[in-house]
Amino acid sequence: MGTLGEKVVLITGTGGGMGRVASLVFAREGAKVVGCDIQAAGNNETVELVRRGGGEMTGIAPIDLTDPEQARQMVEDAVAAYGGLDVVYNNAASLRFGPMPDFSVEDWRATIAGELDIPFFVSKFAWPHLVRRGGGVIINVASMAGMIAGEVPPMVGHCAANAGIIGMTRQLALEGAPDGIRVVAISPGPVLTPASDRDLGDNQAARDAITRKTLLKRFAQPEEVVELAAFLASDRAAYLTGGNYPADGGATAW
Ligand SMILES: NC(=O)c1ccc[n+]([C@@H]2O[C@H](COP(=O)([O-])OP(=O)(O)OC[C@H]3O[C@@H](n4cnc5c(N)ncnc54)[C@H](O)[C@@H]3O)[C@@H](O)[C@H]2O)c1
Repeated sequence: MGTLGEKVVLITGTGGGMGRVASLVFAREGAKVVGCDIQAAGNNETVELVRRGGGEMTGIAPIDLTDPEQARQMVEDAVAAYGGLDVVYNNAASLRFGPMPDFSVEDWRATIAGELDIPFFVSKFAWPHLVRRGGGVIINVASMAGMIAGEVPPMVGHCAANAGIIGMTRQLALEGAPDGIRVVAISPGPVLTPASDRDLGDNQAARDAITRKTLLKRFAQPEEVVELAAFLASDRAAYLTGGNYPADGGATAW
């Protein structure tokens, strides 16, 4: 039995990137995983990978979590899959970058919807189920951009949304404590997912610019973020709530 026992874990954005790795790591630790994504093909592939590795996972896709009604229905389906919910891992996000003069109202709204609405909607609809269960854990993936400004690429919407996630985490921890709900945030620095690796290609100057603020002068591997989430989801982290945990190679240390 792994560190997550028989916990039922809802992970959003499991169609690729860190969400896929999270599905594999959480299933390895014994969790029953429910994963969802707007991309059905990627999500089905993740379910296949987990099952092939001997893990337990149910997929719900395609689902657009910026739509509150779809988010609500997804949570109900997730609860039905294994008869309850212990952990919500708010990983899904979509965002736009751009310098302030060019960042349109539509860019702003799309980024706030894709980064801040999604974890709020999913947490909101999961909340009564966690209360009914006698408690649980919400893990919100924020970003180092929620703590410091970022030069490359310009990111006003991303900074604002992730500061919002960190603030929401504190407030939900306060409101959830009487019901046994722990709420924590993780703030990654630059993470090299298959998609970002492909996008950056052989552009070493862009890679260096993105990792310059880290002390370790490199990207994180997805596992280096996800293993922290697995710890925070486990009972070994029973005293941790309301905190924001950087996984940023030291980028916010100076
Ligand atoms: N990659 C990084 O460098 C980095 C750095 C800091 C924080 N983060 C955060 O980590 C999390 C995961 O990042 P990633 O790099 O793996 O991202 P990713 O883009 O590879 O994966 C995000 C997943 O969410 C899904 N998704 C997007 N919008 C959705 C919607 N409306 N409904 C349902 N699913 C939707 C996408 O299809 C995708 O599979 C995100 O919250 C991101 O903001 C990433």
